Amino acid sequence: MRILTGLQPSGKLHVGNYFGAMEPAVKLQDEGEAFYFIANYHAMTSVRNPQDLRDYTRELAVDFLACGLDPERAVFFRQSDVPEVNELAWILSTVCPMSLLEKCHSYKDKTAKGISPNHGLFAYPVLMAADILLYDSNLVPVGKDQKQHLEVTRDLAGKINEAYGEGTLVVPEPMIRDESGVIPGLDGQKMSKSYNNTLPLFGDEKPSKKLIMRIKTDSTPVEDPKPVEGSLILPLFRLFADDAAYQDMIRSHEEGGCGYGDLKKRLAEAYWEYFEPMRQRRAELIDNIDHVDSVLAAGATRAREEATKVIDRVRKAVGLK
Ligand code: TYM
Repeated sequence: MRILTGLQPSGKLHVGNYFGAMEPAVKLQDEGEAFYFIANYHAMTSVRNPQDLRDYTRELAVDFLACGLDPERAVFFRQSDVPEVNELAWILSTVCPMSLLEKCHSYKDKTAKGISPNHGLFAYPVLMAADILLYDSNLVPVGKDQKQHLEVTRDLAGKINEAYGEGTLVVPEPMIRDESGVIPGLDGQKMSKSYNNTLPLFGDEKPSKKLIMRIKTDSTPVEDPKPVEGSLILPLFRLFADDAAYQDMIRSHEEGGCGYGDLKKRLAEAYWEYFEPMRQRRAELIDNIDHVDSVLAAGATRAREEATKVIDRVRKAVGLK
């Protein structure tokens, strides 16, 4: 089984990226052949400064390795090191109805926020489909916000197979976890850079903890029970705590006697401790950046080998060869 996922190097990774995609991806390394990549072409839809794009790309590489991506088991590469993806995106775009892209929430959300509706943003799901289909991927671990893009991918693979013969492309399955498909941000909405409500994966200690201390709470007095339903503290705490600690946190809400400040402090501690081993690995990787670069170089070679096989098959099927 081939497993594939990608993340955009568009700024600092957050806790939503970790639980929605990175942690499942790391776990799946044992289940099959993993292909994980840095979606730097996609990030160009939001990052315009070339040095920022380079820096974010390297940072993402370090962060994913720190979180347990094992280059002995997974092929880890930059999207742009396999330019064949653009060719497949073109081929897919020739069977892609405009209406399919017009329906995509991410495009509609972004343009509604005032981001200029350029072609890259519009065609984003076609390139994403090419990312997935170029490697004959079977399983794609992602957060729920990517569900529609996976549907577009399956649709496009189906259209190619219908037009050019079954087996031209492999139709992939999404893997979206129920419990961490949507990680809430500090304000209760989906955690997202564009909502400005993120908790960084590897932020500095004081500012990160401060973000938690600023979570909005109601004016329930210290001694009174706090509402469990709608608590912004509990769903985040659950990510970082074992079951006993989580039950204890619920009790502290229900019994009263514990102020919101204390509850948030517990959340901040749990968050900080949870990522400590990864933070240490990250510091080691930063000291050994040549290793990170060589992982990406080896990954590019491996990924391109696989991509060449698939693009050759597609070229023949469609009549380019
Ligand atoms: P990106 O870079 O926005 O996010 C990376 C991954 O993190 C997940 N995620 C979340 N999961 C749960 N709760 C949240 N609050 C949350 N926020 C983000 C995303 O669902 C994603 O899995 N289009 C993709 C990148 C991409 C890709 C691909 C992914 C390009 N090509 C091919 C898979 C396969 C994106 O923008 O992810």
